Amino acid sequence: MQVIKYAFQQHGDERGMLVALEELKDIPFKIKRVYFMYGTKQNIHRGFHAHKKLEQILICIHGSCKVKLDNGKEKKVVSLEKPYEGLYISSNIWHEMYDFSIDAVLLVLASDFYYEEDYIRNYEEFLNFINNQS
Ligand code: TYD
Repeated sequence: MQVIKYAFQQHGDERGMLVALEELKDIPFKIKRVYFMYGTKQNIHRGFHAHKKLEQILICIHGSCKVKLDNGKEKKVVSLEKPYEGLYISSNIWHEMYDFSIDAVLLVLASDFYYEEDYIRNYEEFLNFINNQS
């Protein structure tokens, strides 16, 4: 499984740092939704789902967390610990977020609005779904 982790351009000067993200330029899709998680309690795992169509970029803009990616055949763990790093998660990838630092703010840029119908929240259903795709 190919893991796509972007290192966004940082505009730094004596005042500090700035990262700017433009759709279809720095981000490989049109951004229709932005959401973020913060105040995540210790030892909490979130996610546990895949999407049928949605594409997302995860950016831990403060603190750190880990993301487990699973394409049904292979699993990979990616650490997000820099505010200029973005992890791309395509459709059909089961994902879990965990090991959130107490100060973690996980920002997500998404290619579409929130549709519960796009979620696959059952792992067996996920395996069936991807096996029927190919
Ligand atoms: P949930 O899907 O449980 O988060 P995760 O699976 O990533 O841990 O989402 C928590 C709640 O927030 C749930 O009631 C649905 C709601 N929600 C929205 O209303 N819009 C959104 O864009 C997202 C991601 C969640």
